[in-house]
Amino acid sequence: MAYEKQYGDAVRASVEMVYGAGFLSPGGAAKVGRILDGLAIEGRDVLDLGCGPGGAAVALAGDLGARRVLGIDVEAGTLERAAETVAAAGLADRITLKLVEPGPLPLPDGSFDVVFSKDVIAHVTDKDTLYGEILRVLRPGGAFAGSDWMKGGDGPLSKAFNDWWEQLGSSGLRFDVVTADASARGLEAAGFEEVEVRDHSDWTLREGRRNLESILGPDRETLLEKKASRASRSGPARALPRSTAATCCTATCGHTVPHDAGRAFDGDRPMSGPVGTARRYGGHTD
Ligand SMILES: C[S@@+](CC[C@H](N)C(=O)[O-])C[C@H]1O[C@@H](n2cnc3c(N)ncnc32)[C@H](O)[C@@H]1O
Repeated sequence: MAYEKQYGDAVRASVEMVYGAGFLSPGGAAKVGRILDGLAIEGRDVLDLGCGPGGAAVALAGDLGARRVLGIDVEAGTLERAAETVAAAGLADRITLKLVEPGPLPLPDGSFDVVFSKDVIAHVTDKDTLYGEILRVLRPGGAFAGSDWMKGGDGPLSKAFNDWWEQLGSSGLRFDVVTADASARGLEAAGFEEVEVRDHSDWTLREGRRNLESILGPDRETLLEKKASRASRSGPARALPRSTAATCCTATCGHTVPHDAGRAFDGDRPMSGPVGTARRYGGHTD
């Protein structure tokens, strides 16, 4: 099925207003480090899968010292914005950006030491194919580190979760979230070893509250002014999307997945429990 654009200019600009320039997901550069959780990328070649407007790629090649970062994304407009972010950081010599189609990655086998992905795979329905592709492009001994929105269980979704879903849908965003368990099983089935899933729900909840307070409090006027000035260039003004606040209430899990292509899969480490925030807000299992 052909990919339909989800992050038009207006959605992207609104989300960057909340999460910070260069980011379409919470936490900024600090969260990039948190996802890597000590995984050294200095001097390494890193693929930023779903790089969005480039903030994470800049953190990876900048303070975190990656030798070379390739940022790939499925949206041309978002990559144009990423090029601005990269140029402003003076890192165009070490960050390359590439437009891709969903599905098989147009990249050679074994071409990266680390694949990084921040809040992207929740958009992807065929996660198994993508996990296999991530493994394929990693060098032996490489690692995948990423984060994602997840749900807390397989039971029926609560009204709160469904309301959030509808709000996201009305902004044109489509997600296919799975549980942390399903995600770990998918990674293992693809051939990853030592799969670890960490629960970032408490962080996500705190960050979401902080974002919400700033949207409703000190930053409200600035955000509305920016939105109005953008709308005067691109069409009639609308209220800040309700989905912005709701998005802040979702759960994020991090994966850190060392991969050694030379060894057979030999089991995983114990995972943390399911995603607390999704359970509180989604109420699937409790
Ligand atoms: C929530 S945004 C996160 C962007 C960025 N990683 C960040 O944290 O700011 C999700 C991004 O994934 C991209 N995306 C969605 N499906 C993708 C796919 N199959 N391959 C690569 N990128 C994809 C979207 O275009 C969007 O830029």
